[in-house]
Amino acid sequence: MKSYRIYFLAILGLLASCKNNPEPENEAPNYGLIAKNAMVVSARKEASQIGVAILKQGGNVFDAMVATHLALAVAYPYAGNLGGGGFMVYRKANGEIGSLDFREKAPLRATRDMYLDDNGEVIPNKSWLGALATGVPGSVAGIFEVHEKLGSLPLETIFEPILSLAHKGVVVTEKQAKTIKEYQPLFHEVNLNTIPFDKNWKAGDTIKYPVLASTLERILEFGKDEFYKGETAKKLVGFIQNNGGIITLKDLEKYEAKWRKPITFTYDDLNIISMGPPSSGGVCMAQILKMVEPFHLDENDHNSLRTIQAVVEAERRAYADRSFYLGDPDFNKIPIETLINDKYLTGRMSDFSFEKATPSSEFSHGNIEVIESNETTHYSIVDQFGNAIAVTTTLNGAYGSKLYCPELGFFLNNEMDDFSSKPGVPNMFGLIGAEANSIAPEKRMLSSMTPTIVEKNGEFFMSLGTPGGATIITSVLQTILNVHEFGMTMQEAVDAPRFHHQWLPDEVVMEPNSFDTSLIEQLKTLGYNVREGESIILGKVDGIRVLNDKSYEGGADRRGDDTAIGF
Ligand code: GLY
Repeated sequence: MKSYRIYFLAILGLLASCKNNPEPENEAPNYGLIAKNAMVVSARKEASQIGVAILKQGGNVFDAMVATHLALAVAYPYAGNLGGGGFMVYRKANGEIGSLDFREKAPLRATRDMYLDDNGEVIPNKSWLGALATGVPGSVAGIFEVHEKLGSLPLETIFEPILSLAHKGVVVTEKQAKTIKEYQPLFHEVNLNTIPFDKNWKAGDTIKYPVLASTLERILEFGKDEFYKGETAKKLVGFIQNNGGIITLKDLEKYEAKWRKPITFTYDDLNIISMGPPSSGGVCMAQILKMVEPFHLDENDHNSLRTIQAVVEAERRAYADRSFYLGDPDFNKIPIETLINDKYLTGRMSDFSFEKATPSSEFSHGNIEVIESNETTHYSIVDQFGNAIAVTTTLNGAYGSKLYCPELGFFLNNEMDDFSSKPGVPNMFGLIGAEANSIAPEKRMLSSMTPTIVEKNGEFFMSLGTPGGATIITSVLQTILNVHEFGMTMQEAVDAPRFHHQWLPDEVVMEPNSFDTSLIEQLKTLGYNVREGESIILGKVDGIRVLNDKSYEGGADRRGDDTAIGF
């Protein structure tokens, strides 16, 4: 950690609580919301409010998880969902940790080559647009699993504000109006029926969700089975099959969320707890952070040439391994211990020099590329009892497959695109995959979602995560570095400009208008291909950290409508 940073003690009462945290020199830190007891940070104000309301009724972090997840399904149809899946990492106040996998699965009728034509070429759009792109949804199983094992309030109490929100409606934000408009041509292309998002919605309008409310009411009445076996299941399967999809009632009946051992590793004096396979997030982040640890990033400036070089070269190497080794652990033997082993990672970085870029073509692994989408969503919650969670959930693309079930009131995911349709051919995120992530019935597709909890001195320190497809991992790790190495507040850390490298394509993606042109020229001179497009957004990180007085600071990313609420 940066040793020469000036400590701003006692300038403001606020800062008194931060005396052991280094702050950037010569400028007053920009804090996010600070709350003493509990906090929810999510992609929409309505969801954070409902999560906090549940905590205020005495609910714990797991009750708030169910509420926030369902509230996002109503208020943030872009990525919040009933028709998708996700991952949760938790740390209880007593230090117990765990993780839940409610990732989608390939249907029983899925085949390895289902997205290839007779010549073995990938058929454009087939894996990400429409019913055939949909994996068996896991979100409803996930929230019921969390509630049954760890929740404390009755489901009626948790569902009440969600149903009220769906009936009363949600006010359209500027950003939402823009994305609805942007995706309308695809809604028209995919949907046989008119859907609520076909209208010319403007910021300030209110969209009501009565059909979704009815679906939720049935789920409340009949439980998880309503979604996987009941009337909702039958309607869902009928709709998917009418639209050319292959999901059957058997697929829904067989779906189960799975508790898995999280990935844990140390970085300096931090203990990091993150999601293991079928997410690549934890393994990949462990690899990158362990590869950069010996470079003492705090001796350089934030986003300086040397910092970017060290991080980019570690990212390049980790993503090459990702493409080759990672996939569903129930179908593959994944050498996790070796992949995150210090000796192995020292070897991986042994050919790196600050003198020039290492071309990705020099790496032996992964003659193939796989991609993922940007349109996931993340929420972090801490409760008044000291429990913490990090949850990342997704439909994959924005509005998933773009297919909206009018009888049930929600979008279906296009998660099948996260499989490797054909080894070597990039997916929608440009990621290349190998055999470990090939399609097979009931297999879970590889993810980059990286819900993460960080401990310091044995205590909870941060909860964070982000959407961003392939860029999720690099956004989460840069946010951790921003706080830990560069002394930023949580808000500064989530807002700071980010960069990304994923081995293939061999380019450093940089957020536009955020880096000095001289820095970009220096990178180019050293052999880096830099891509800096106007529309590039790398993640939308939401996080919570503990300040020295034990209160919480929320970081709600400036890039979205994200909001921290606490008490
Ligand atoms: N669909 C994005 C991810 O799972 O990483």
